[in-house]
Amino acid sequence: MRREAIVAEDLKKKYITKKRKGLLRSEKQVVEALRGISFKIYEGEVVGLLGPNGAGKTTTVKIVSTLLIPDEGNAWVYGYHVVNEAKKVREKLGVMLTVEKGFYGKLTGRENLEYFGALYGLKGKELKKRVEYLLELLELEKLGASDRLFEEYSLGMKARLNLARALLRDPPVLLLDEPTLGLDPPSARRIRELVKTLAHKQSKAVLYTTHNMFEAEIVCDRIILINKGRIVAKGTPEQLKATIPEIKTINLIIRGVGSIDSIFSGINAEKVSIEPTDGLYNVKVQVYKPEEIIDVLLKKLVNNGFDIISLKIEEPTLEDVFIYFAEKGVKQ
Ligand SMILES: Nc1ncnc2c1ncn2[C@@H]1O[C@H](COP(=O)(O)OP(=O)(O)OP(=O)(O)O)[C@@H](O)[C@H]1O
Ligand SMILES: [Mg+2]
Repeated sequence: MRREAIVAEDLKKKYITKKRKGLLRSEKQVVEALRGISFKIYEGEVVGLLGPNGAGKTTTVKIVSTLLIPDEGNAWVYGYHVVNEAKKVREKLGVMLTVEKGFYGKLTGRENLEYFGALYGLKGKELKKRVEYLLELLELEKLGASDRLFEEYSLGMKARLNLARALLRDPPVLLLDEPTLGLDPPSARRIRELVKTLAHKQSKAVLYTTHNMFEAEIVCDRIILINKGRIVAKGTPEQLKATIPEIKTINLIIRGVGSIDSIFSGINAEKVSIEPTDGLYNVKVQVYKPEEIIDVLLKKLVNNGFDIISLKIEEPTLEDVFIYFAEKGVKQ
């Protein structure tokens, strides 16, 4: 039986802020960031927390990481309560927040890690070994960044050092808030692969937030989709894709000079988009049952002198799921 690493029960959080009204006046404003969020994350899995801007992802991560106290509801990490046993909780966690705090600009990457390692109670040879291991693992050594000052770091180097710091204590639970934000593709890939290995080979539980659907689909074993502080859908990427209406896209690239609009206006589709590119047309036809129209469509095209360069039928993507639930709003 896999153990429950994170349990969240009905988390609620409001922020009270001041909204400027002209130069001198301001008005109290209440933002309901979380309206009752519950989930469980087990050892050995990467769970993606997905949602549009302002959905409540970072707020959730901050509550589980003990940085923020919920107004209502509870959360536990390996059975320790995030408010009442915050110190115990922090010992189990590696946290990577988007705004990297606390690194010293005038220290090198290696020195920063040594500093935080010492703060976490690592000492002597054990500390040195761990720091060297992490500099290698995150390829900071390979990038020649280990002995450069933090203030000279690029975004990708900072992200790598940030993850290295989260791993210093070799914690069983990782909370990663948009860990690949702004990274170049090789750096992002490196971090994704590492996260998957940590979960699947070392049984760590990972909570991973992202906006990037492509990323969520390749990194996450399960996804929790939130919008306006509520969970609107959850499941494996496959399960989620199966929850939206089975609309498929016929993606065609064709060449020809005939009257293309009249061919497509006659077919029974939900949506057709035609884009001319370099003497070709890229046509996307959204339909519920492509098999019912494809024969007729292809015959019509050939009879009108069009060449078919490529034809693909695409299943719904996670992005379609995301847009579907973001547009549909909140399930009550
Ligand atoms: N410190 C704060 N003070 C006031 N309001 C806040 C604060 N932090 C977050 N909020 C508000 O709470 C809501 C949820 O914010 P949160 O940062 O959790 O969203 P998010 O899903 O992480 O968004 P993003 O994808 O943009 O990072 C938003 O409406 C945001 O404006
Ligand atoms: Mg956020």
